[in-house]
Amino acid sequence: MTGGAEVPPALEGEHDDGLEEERAFFGRRKGKRLRDAQEIRLETLLPALRIDLPPGGGRIDPLTLFGQMDAPPEEIWLEIGFGGGEHLAARAAAHPRIGFIGAEAFVNGVVKLLADIEARGLRNVRVRDGDVAPLLARLPDACLGQVSLLYPDPWPKRRQRKRRFVSDESLAQIARLLKDGGVFRFASDIDDYAGWTLARVARCPDLRWEAATSRDWLQPFPGWPGTRYEAKALLTGRRPTYLEFSRIPR
Ligand SMILES: C[S@@+](CC[C@H](N)C(=O)[O-])C[C@H]1O[C@@H](n2cnc3c(N)ncnc32)[C@H](O)[C@@H]1O
Repeated sequence: MTGGAEVPPALEGEHDDGLEEERAFFGRRKGKRLRDAQEIRLETLLPALRIDLPPGGGRIDPLTLFGQMDAPPEEIWLEIGFGGGEHLAARAAAHPRIGFIGAEAFVNGVVKLLADIEARGLRNVRVRDGDVAPLLARLPDACLGQVSLLYPDPWPKRRQRKRRFVSDESLAQIARLLKDGGVFRFASDIDDYAGWTLARVARCPDLRWEAATSRDWLQPFPGWPGTRYEAKALLTGRRPTYLEFSRIPR
């Protein structure tokens, strides 16, 4: 990361202070001061849910992460950049036999998800509280049934676009992690980012856009609980695009 004061417009006004630098992550790590109850959840609940990266670059067997579930998860689904976690918590509640991994680098978002996990009594969620990239590198091939990337930071200025999460490299990594027929979901209210993603998927040999009609990208995914950023986009009159790609069988 190069740091500096550039903030994606979607984040302006959300995160008031604190900007940590890290080589490959461009967002903010901390915002408003946490309340006592949030600090307590970070100290007591997060250690049990956090996914630790094994030292020495070792791989993680994601099936071992869900010992709290009554039975091994039928599939594992990943959400990258879950924000406040509203979508992740709603989906985890709706799919109790799926194991969910959520990754979010912004600690104020992580504490919101923790409160939701506690309130709903969820036992099928594990958390990466940091940059998702090192986690992706540690997961084995074909271990995920779904990956969601919802309203990623838009980085709208031309010179910032290389910071966007979607790149040829990240798509190759997502394709590596998806099972054959697995699904990659992307949503954005920034038309240019949707086009950017379509262009990169078109040259990714392992992913295919399955849309047949405009309904497929204008309507939310089935069972869609929405996200906080989506609600903000709709309020300001921006229309989201929903893209679903499938992993071409190996
Ligand atoms: C614009 S917000 C959208 C949040 C949420 N998905 C929603 O729709 O409400 C993008 C989120 O992605 C997170 N993020 C960006 N890059 C990330 C990374 N490499 N690893 C983990 N989280 C990341 C940011 O911290 C931010 O909370």
